Amino acid sequence: MSNLTSDYWEQLAKTQIELKEKIEKDNWRLDYHLMPETGWMNDPNGLVQFNGTYHVYHQYVPDNPDGGLVHWGHKTSKDLVHFTEEEIFLSPDQTYDKDGVYSGSAFVKDDEIHFFYTGNVKHPGEHDYTFSGREQNTVHVVSKDGFTVDYREVCIPHEDYPEGFTDHIRDPKVFEKDGMYYMVLGARALNHRGKILLYKSDDLYTWTYHGIFLEGEKEMGYMWECPDFFELPQSDILILSPQGLKATEYEFENPHQAGYYLGRTDWKTHQFIPESEFKELDRGFDFYAPQTFLDESGRRLLFAWMGIGDTVPEYSNPTVPRGWQHALTMPRELTVENGLLKQRPLVEYQTLRQKEMALKESIDGQYELTVPQQETFELLVDVEKLDGDLSIHLKEDTVLTFDGNIFSLNHGVSGYGRSVRSVEVGNLERIHVFADTSSLEIFLNDGDYVITSRVYPKQLKENILIEGQTDLALSYWELKK
Ligand code: FRU
Repeated sequence: MSNLTSDYWEQLAKTQIELKEKIEKDNWRLDYHLMPETGWMNDPNGLVQFNGTYHVYHQYVPDNPDGGLVHWGHKTSKDLVHFTEEEIFLSPDQTYDKDGVYSGSAFVKDDEIHFFYTGNVKHPGEHDYTFSGREQNTVHVVSKDGFTVDYREVCIPHEDYPEGFTDHIRDPKVFEKDGMYYMVLGARALNHRGKILLYKSDDLYTWTYHGIFLEGEKEMGYMWECPDFFELPQSDILILSPQGLKATEYEFENPHQAGYYLGRTDWKTHQFIPESEFKELDRGFDFYAPQTFLDESGRRLLFAWMGIGDTVPEYSNPTVPRGWQHALTMPRELTVENGLLKQRPLVEYQTLRQKEMALKESIDGQYELTVPQQETFELLVDVEKLDGDLSIHLKEDTVLTFDGNIFSLNHGVSGYGRSVRSVEVGNLERIHVFADTSSLEIFLNDGDYVITSRVYPKQLKENILIEGQTDLALSYWELKK
């Protein structure tokens, strides 16, 4: 039935002890981002706030920093800043998920959390696991507390999916509309188009197929992973992680993308009608498989995997020999303003600020922080006037530049193969940087654009240096561990 024998668990416990020893010594271990306790992490899953507690589950391979058999790891928090590591929530220990408890979501109804995930199964034999050999069952889990499982059953077996698809149909996200429950699933059609399937239910247990919610044109890639649908007052939003887009001058440069359409939904035909171009949610090197949820105060929040698959050999993460790989982004609050999905850091993160630091006077267009650069910090730059170019040197050899139109993140050797990512911003008013020991999240113009990247400095530049004929208002905070 399951691959997880008692030998597996014994070996896992031993491996985790070894990995923990390495991780404890690692100065690239993150201070205020969610990272795997040991091993590998990818997508955020089952995001939910339940009776005040935030639950963040995630794709987790506790015994191997290079990935492998995935479980759902689990972390909880009261404030989204301080998290507690919990026991693994779901393991691939059933016939219908024996090769991985893949991604999924959470939905709260009547004091219970309903989780939906993809049970991945690979059959032995000569298979390519795209056109044959793979099952991806949709599984329903019910829990009264988010820690224990009270019910776990397949709700859509693989053989019940409609015709016309490869074996890749996964990543259920459930939402409610007018008293009915809907589920979107990402898929790769036989014609190599990405599609989103829609299912409907009136009790969360029995699901019926309701057609294609959205189908991609050829240029939108061959596979759509991790769909997410929600409504904001200004627009409906469909988020997806497409694979196979062509890079343009500044966009879609990573191996896989993650982005959104603004649009509206025709609830008679059950179709999503995009009313915007597909836009990337993040313009850096390390962002994929985002998932959103509504918290108990009514905010629409997003976490993403601060990483992407298939980046090697172009760029990599030197934490692998140190026992771990990948992390999640900081949570971001979403709003729609002026036709853009804005992403802002949460106010909760201001509680991490230590005393604000002053800056040296500008001498010949050069500012230098009077304090030594810290490993973790927040830097807020308001650009009041700018003649010519602006550059900010931080970490070890990372440079942020703006030439009056294009903003770029330029990595040096500490980018481990990451080079340059650029955004056509036009008018730049604000640069807001969150630095952790080995990550950077850069919010431009109050969340119009975000650039997320991993970076692995061996030695920090002593001070942050800012150059440009410019009037700037600057704030710098060292962040609490
Ligand atoms: C996205 C993804 C999902 C899948 C999971 C497996 O990164 O490929 O489509 O459910 O990761 O770990």
